[in-house]
Amino acid sequence: MKFLEIKLLLILCAAFGVSCTQTQTAQTNSSTPASNTTVAAPTVSPTVAAVEPRLDVPYVPTHELIVDEMLKMANVKGTDVLYDLGSGDGRIPITAAKRFGTRGVGIDLNPQRIKEANENAEKAGVTDKVKFIEGDIFKTDFNEATVLTLYLLPNINLKLRPQIFDMKPGTRVVSHNYHMGDWKPEKTKLVKTPDGIEHYVYLWRVPKKKPDFKQETNQ
Ligand SMILES: C[S@@+](CC[C@H](N)C(=O)[O-])C[C@H]1O[C@@H](n2cnc3c(N)ncnc32)[C@H](O)[C@@H]1O
Repeated sequence: MKFLEIKLLLILCAAFGVSCTQTQTAQTNSSTPASNTTVAAPTVSPTVAAVEPRLDVPYVPTHELIVDEMLKMANVKGTDVLYDLGSGDGRIPITAAKRFGTRGVGIDLNPQRIKEANENAEKAGVTDKVKFIEGDIFKTDFNEATVLTLYLLPNINLKLRPQIFDMKPGTRVVSHNYHMGDWKPEKTKLVKTPDGIEHYVYLWRVPKKKPDFKQETNQ
């Protein structure tokens, strides 16, 4: 390519904002049929693999009868602030908001569950009372709660215990099915749902003085 042609090419590049390197490459590879056509380099976006959140507990919703029992055992009122850790479709905070006008917050790591919970809050007409946070229960602050509800697993309850002992004394903690190791519940109730399945509901109250339990990992 002659000097003048190159100069002209550079002027055109500048005028149209085209990458000169690409154009020049296309020009110099003119032995291949399509190579003398200047094409925009394809925008190769990195393949974004659908990232599944690493859940500590699988999703199993609490039966409505057990939700009722949990709210009853914790004596939930309109003045409470209820946090459900691992809130699934939001049924516990939504039921408390509908029934007692309780302000509620649900925390769940799975965006699909957060979407469902927001849709359910909308249907129940309680979006002014409840909110759902997509986050990890071990990294999200729930100290504001006066009632904490859990349907997790025994080892996750034990892992949460230090965070729970840091909450305001008197905060009620209700757990569906799973205990807290050597932190003995104030109340325990066995409830049978119509499908014949037995469920335990436990209640604790955050003590004034942090108990000196050794950190258990499982039971
Ligand atoms: C057994 S379900 C309970 C759902 C709801 N609380 C109920 O009782 O119907 C447990 C929930 O915890 C959520 N989860 C699991 N690990 C979590 C974590 N580390 N942080 C936040 N949510 C988590 C799951 O996505 C699931 O929705």
